[in-house]
Amino acid sequence: MVSRVIPVDPFDLVIFGATGDLARRKILPSLYRRFLGGQIPEEARIIGVSRAELNDEQFRAQVAEALSEFVNQSKQSAEQIAGFLRCLHYVTIDATEEAGWDKLKALVRPDLVQAFYFSVAPALFGALADRLHGYDIARADARIVVEKPFGRDLASARALNDTLAAHFSEDQIYRIDHYLGKETVQNLMAVRFANILFEPLWNAQYVDHVQITVAETVGVGGRGAYYDTSGAMRDMVQNHLMQLLCLIAMEPPYHFDPSAVRDEKLKVIRALDPLGPEDIVRGQYVGPNGTSYRDDAGNPNSRTESYVALRCHVANWRWKGTPFYLRTGKKLRARTSEIAVVFKEPPHSIFDDATDWRENMLVIRLQPNEGMNLKMMIKEPGPGGMRLVQVPLDMSFAEALGEEGADMPDAYERLIMDVIRGNQTLFMRGDEVEAAWAWTDPIIAGWEAAKARPQAYDSGSSGPEDALMLMHRDGRRWREIRE
Ligand SMILES: NC(=O)c1ccc[n+]([C@@H]2O[C@H](COP(=O)([O-])OP(=O)(O)OC[C@H]3O[C@@H](n4cnc5c(N)ncnc54)[C@H](OP(=O)(O)O)[C@@H]3O)[C@@H](O)[C@H]2O)c1
Repeated sequence: MVSRVIPVDPFDLVIFGATGDLARRKILPSLYRRFLGGQIPEEARIIGVSRAELNDEQFRAQVAEALSEFVNQSKQSAEQIAGFLRCLHYVTIDATEEAGWDKLKALVRPDLVQAFYFSVAPALFGALADRLHGYDIARADARIVVEKPFGRDLASARALNDTLAAHFSEDQIYRIDHYLGKETVQNLMAVRFANILFEPLWNAQYVDHVQITVAETVGVGGRGAYYDTSGAMRDMVQNHLMQLLCLIAMEPPYHFDPSAVRDEKLKVIRALDPLGPEDIVRGQYVGPNGTSYRDDAGNPNSRTESYVALRCHVANWRWKGTPFYLRTGKKLRARTSEIAVVFKEPPHSIFDDATDWRENMLVIRLQPNEGMNLKMMIKEPGPGGMRLVQVPLDMSFAEALGEEGADMPDAYERLIMDVIRGNQTLFMRGDEVEAAWAWTDPIIAGWEAAKARPQAYDSGSSGPEDALMLMHRDGRRWREIRE
């Protein structure tokens, strides 16, 4: 199968924070891979900006080093790297000061597509927006890319939206949730809306419940100090898990375009019932000899959660009565992200011995081994009568799509190219982000008022006991966390 490369117009992309961790690990390697894929025209300019005093050559040398570390060996060609590096430029600017902006203005061409990637702390967004506008650098249709976290509550998210809105319109702002750039996540929409197969079953009449799991094996590591001010609810649930929930629960948009898709996602968030204390469990990992969350966070009294499990309901006609269970945590037994849509029992069993019956289930694996698995009942082979057995209809993208499936682009590759193409479908709109905070704020405020410590769970386990009970009480169980 030959991959279709959609060419993009020549562009100038300015990366504020180009010497930072995200730029080195994700943004620049993704751009290089798109360069290899023939999508970055040679006349494109990628302009790095930060306070570090570097010239173009020094910046290019830093980027070459990052590529050697973060790009697969098989993709490292000296000739291609040299070609990519020629697209790179560098300007020293402190976002809060006035020096350097004229030099940037001279580099950014007014007649090309322009994108400005704010890969810096959100506290700098205002300073950058003011100066891009004040120095008349950004065209009226320039694209502004901002990273998570987009606020830490509704008030701060609104303030950030207002800061950006002072100079840019909503259709210029690209809020990244890299989960939306994952191939499997986009495939959720293809599976739902390009096939007739599932739609008739995709409702509370046939779906017993949905489980969304994002499990990590790593702890908070070097991000401990930051993470301790955030926690799993803010860091993962409010954005990534809620976005996955939206894609599963949304109504079919009338067209695959930014407004239609985001309107439908917003309706899901607005339809979420408020949660009660019985709907949610928080956990904090503990480990031997200084490896507990509190050690990693450097805060012996921390009440921040490294794990959340919750049960929520989408209060609309389609989903009334179908719970959605979400969980995410660090230092769990395996690294896995998946969505399981668990179907109800057939209304009547015609088989005498139905003790082996198991639910039909559609499991969408986001990582590892991206793919889908439909669990079905069939007859166990052999002469022993009509015994039932559950078997998987298993589809791994890598196998089904050959080379292309094995070499799926990183989420950032897709998202950055969408920015250049001016397609906002896979980016969060301001009202979506605010609605998500409006739902999570009261939950977090309740925890903060209660001052309770999250339940301890062992590093390498499946999470806190109470999270298992959250499902058991409803007569259900979580899928095992395993790779
Ligand atoms: N790293 C990740 O995996 C990740 C994931 C998701 C979201 N994010 C978000 O992405 C953003 C960047 O994260 P990061 O991890 O790359 O941070 P980082 O490693 O601390 O890098 C920050 C960058 O901003 C530059 N910078 C800082 N102050 C500046 C100023 N006053 N003017 C101009 N440039 C300035 C820094 O260079 P100088 O110090 O030389 O100026 C550096 O290039 C943050 O908002 C973060 O929350 C990061």
